[in-house]
Amino acid sequence: MLHSKIAGLGYYVPERVVTNDDLIQVMDTTDEWIQERTGIRERRYGRKHEETTTTLAVKAAKIACERAGIETDQIDFIIFATLSPDYYFPGCGVLLQRALGITRTEIGALDIRNQCSGFIYALSVADQFVKTGMYKNVLVVGSEMHSMGLDFSTEGRNVTVIFGDGAGAAIIQPVADENQGILTTKLHSDGTYAEKLAFINPGSHGGYHQNNLGEPIDYGYPSADTFGGIFFTPKMLEGHQYPNMEGQFVFKLAVQKFPEVIHEALNATGLQASDITMLIPHQANLRISQFVQKTLRLRDDQVWNNIQRYGNTTAASIPIALCEAWEAGKIKSGDLVCLAAFGSGFTWGAALIRW
Ligand code: ACO
Repeated sequence: MLHSKIAGLGYYVPERVVTNDDLIQVMDTTDEWIQERTGIRERRYGRKHEETTTTLAVKAAKIACERAGIETDQIDFIIFATLSPDYYFPGCGVLLQRALGITRTEIGALDIRNQCSGFIYALSVADQFVKTGMYKNVLVVGSEMHSMGLDFSTEGRNVTVIFGDGAGAAIIQPVADENQGILTTKLHSDGTYAEKLAFINPGSHGGYHQNNLGEPIDYGYPSADTFGGIFFTPKMLEGHQYPNMEGQFVFKLAVQKFPEVIHEALNATGLQASDITMLIPHQANLRISQFVQKTLRLRDDQVWNNIQRYGNTTAASIPIALCEAWEAGKIKSGDLVCLAAFGSGFTWGAALIRW
C-alpha cells in the first residue's frame, strides 16, 4: 500500500492585529489576565464584508499548491475543516472549490465539523483516500473567521479573548517509500460533555438535551402543536447566539488527553516521545502546551507555539503552526513531526509524520 505525505503547506492570517489592549476598550479584561492564563498577546481579525472563512482558505490553499508543484485544477478532492463557515450550509468546501476556479473538474468536496481537532480528522481522511490510491492530490484546509461571531461584551470575555482568525492548508500526495509520510493517525471522541464547549444556537435541539444544558433558558419556542419555529427564534438574538465554554473543565481533560493520544500514536509506530523532532500542538492555551511538553519531557526546541501571536484559530491552528515551523527551517527531511489536538465534542487526535 502507498503512503501519503504532506507535499506542500501554506497559511494566511488577516493583516489586522488586535492586541489585548484593543479588547480592553470593549470589555472588562486585562492584558495581564489574558497573558497569564492563555499566553496570548494578540490575534488577527479579518476585514468585515471583504474576508470570509473561505477567502482566507483560498490564500492558504494557493500557497500550498504552489509549494506542492501543482496547479489548482490538479486537486482531486477537497476536505475543509471549520467551525465558523461562511454559510450554515452549504459548507465551505464547495465555496473554496468555486473560488479556486476548479468547478469544471467536479471534484468532491467534504466538510469536517470537528472544531479544534478538525485538521487532524481531515488529514486522516485524506490519508485514507491517498494511500488506497483513490486520489493523488487532496487539498486539506483548516480555516476560521471567529471574529465575526464572538460576544464582545464582558459576558463573553472568557471565550472571546482566546480566539483569532486564520487559515492553513496542505496538499496530500502519495509516496512509495513506506518510511516517509503519515505513519499513523489516531482519532477519538466522547460526546458525554458535548455542551461544555459548544455553540448550540441556532439548532434543532429545542431544549431536548436539557439535562446537559444546565439552567433552562427560555428561547421563546412556539408551542409543540405548531409547525417549525424552533431552529432560530428572535429570543436567541438576545445574547444566546454565542459559543460557551466551561474553561476549567475543558482544560483538565485537555491536559490528560493530549499526552494520552500522542503516546497511543507513538506506541503504534514503535517510537518514543524523545524521537519527536517537532510537536505541533493545537494552539488552545500556552499553559496546555507547556503541560504537554513537560509530561512528554520535550525540550523547548521540540515544540512549536504561536498562540502568543494568533490566539486559538481552531481548525487552522495546526496547519498554521506546522507551516510556520517548516518555513523557519525547523522541519527537515527525515524528521518526526507529531500533530495533536483536543477540543469541542469532545474530539481529539494525533498524527505522526516522517518528513
Ligand atoms: N478577563 C478577565 N477575567 C476573566 C476573563 C477575561 N478575559 N475570562 C474569565 N475571567 C474571570 C472569570 O470571570 C473568573 O472570575 P471569578 O473567579 O471572579 O468567577 C476567573 O477569571 C477565572 O475564570 P476561569 O474560567 O476559571 O479561568 P481559567 O483560569 O480556567 O482560564 C481559560 C480560562 C483560559 C478559558 C482556560 O480555562 C482554558 O484555556 N481552558 C481550555 C480551553 C480549551 O482547551 N479549549 C479547547 C479548544 S477550543 C475549541 O474546541 C473550539
